[in-house]
Order: sequence, then C-alpha cells, then structure tokens
Amino acid sequence: MLRLENVSKNFGGLPALSDVSFDIPQGKLTALIGPNGAGKSTLINCMTGVLQTTSGRIRFRDIQIETLPPHQIARLGIARTFQNLKLFPRLTVLDNVLTGLTCEGGKSLVMAMFRLPYLRHRERSLKLRALEALDRFGLADKANWPAGVLAYGDKKRVELARATVGKPELILLDEPVAGLNAEETAAVGEQLNLLRRAGHTMLLVEHDMELVMTIADRVVVLDSGRCIAMGSPEEVRRNPLVLEAYLGRTEAVA
Ligand SMILES: Nc1ncnc2c1ncn2[C@@H]1O[C@H](COP(=O)(O)OP(=O)(O)OP(=O)(O)O)[C@@H](O)[C@H]1O
Ligand SMILES: [Mg+2]
Repeated sequence: MLRLENVSKNFGGLPALSDVSFDIPQGKLTALIGPNGAGKSTLINCMTGVLQTTSGRIRFRDIQIETLPPHQIARLGIARTFQNLKLFPRLTVLDNVLTGLTCEGGKSLVMAMFRLPYLRHRERSLKLRALEALDRFGLADKANWPAGVLAYGDKKRVELARATVGKPELILLDEPVAGLNAEETAAVGEQLNLLRRAGHTMLLVEHDMELVMTIADRVVVLDSGRCIAMGSPEEVRRNPLVLEAYLGRTEAVA
C-alpha cells in the first residue's frame, strides 16, 4: 500500500534517515522499532508531509506523496497519531475527534445556505461517528470535557479515536501506549487488534516489545537512520544485529 524507496533525511547535514526502503503491505500491521533517535518519528513525519525528505521516494498506492503537503496526504486516507500529543486543549473531546473528519464536512458556504437541513443531518451523522469512535476507546462519557483537562492516558486515546474515526486506509501510530499503565496498554492493544482484524493497514512505532511481538505481522528495525532488519516478529527477535543494536542497548540501559 505504501512504498518507501531510498528515503533519506538530513538535519543540518546530519543524517537522521539514510536510504530507508521498505513496504507497508495492505491489511497488515507493520511495526517499526529501534532505539531512541533511530529516526522512527522522522520517518512518520516524512510520510505525512510534516517534513520534506532530502532524497528518495514515497509512494502511496500509485501516487508519489513525498512532495505533497500534510492536508493533501491526509485527504488521500493516511491518518496518524503524534508521539507528543497534539490535541486542541480548549476544544471538547468530541470536537477534537471531529477534526479527524474535516475532509468529510460541508463543501461550501453556498451549499450551507441552500442545503441547511441536509447539512444538519450530515453534522448529526458525523457526531454520531465521533461518539462511536470515542466509545471504542472507553471515552464516550467524557465527550463534552475540554480535552486539556484529561489525564495523559485518556489524551492518548483521544488521539487514537481521532486517527481512526475517518476510517483511513493507512494509520500511522507513533508510540500509542507510551506512558500508559498495563491495563490501559492492554485495552489499546485490544483495539489495535480489532482494527487489524477489520482489515486496516497500520504502521506501529512502539518500544513496548511485548505489544509489538504479539500484534505485528511484520517488524522493521531502524538503527541510526538505517534499516538493519525486517521480517516476522520471530525472525527479528532472533536476528543478532537487532539484539546488539536494540535489545543489547536496552539491557545496558537497564
Ligand atoms: N527537527 C529536527 N531538527 C534536528 N534534528 C532532528 C529533528 N527531529 C529529529 N532530529 C534528530 O533526528 C534523529 C532521529 O530522531 P527521531 O525523533 O526520528 O527518533 P525516534 O526513532 O523517533 O526516537 P524516539 O524513540 O526517542 O522517539 C535524532 O538524532 C534527532 O535528534
Ligand atoms: Mg520518536
């Protein structure tokens, strides 16, 4: 569904990504793992038009997207969550989730003037969908709270509701369970599993290896901006390069 070909990204001459190439196959959950600073978030930012690649190509279905702005990429059906939460704190939880449906809102002012009943109906149905998305993540009872007052774990789940409400073709998740407790992690894992079984295509960036190993169809490993391994969770777990680059350092840190 999405293909990265030799994607490189430099920041002030320093490479954050070097020649990264891999595919995200349709209907599968691909996990992207690697130590801190490996380039995982940078890659998501390149795929969503937040950052411009220095070189290389990114193709979504038949469309080259590496030069498109974020709103056009979103309109193509690629949604994401952010590692550092990006909610509108003064808007309600429901309105935050509705921003995930902006592409499907009213078309024009003229239309709004002449087709008011239709638009009211449309608005109601969008709200209903946003409420359903909140319900999936156990947040329907907080729909009218300002997002800013929510606990951290709830904010993470509002982001997930917003990213999934529009039924995007591809969902990019940047550490969706970071900072969540075991119970919250299990609940989010279950939702991701449901999305996967419903045929959604996902890229999951995550440090929680237990979640990655149980949920991923394929794992891609980045280290210092380079793709050092890819394969099934089992293959990657046994790969000595991965053990050294990733698990080895984790042990050293622990
Ligand atoms: N806007 C930026 N300007 C300069 N350097 C950046 C910028 N964004 C990221 N970097 C650098 O690029 C490298 C990759 O960072 P990135 O945030 O993509 O890593 P990551 O794999 O997501 O790490 P983490 O697991 O900690 O989230 C790091 O060395 C980082 O310091
Ligand atoms: Mg990151």
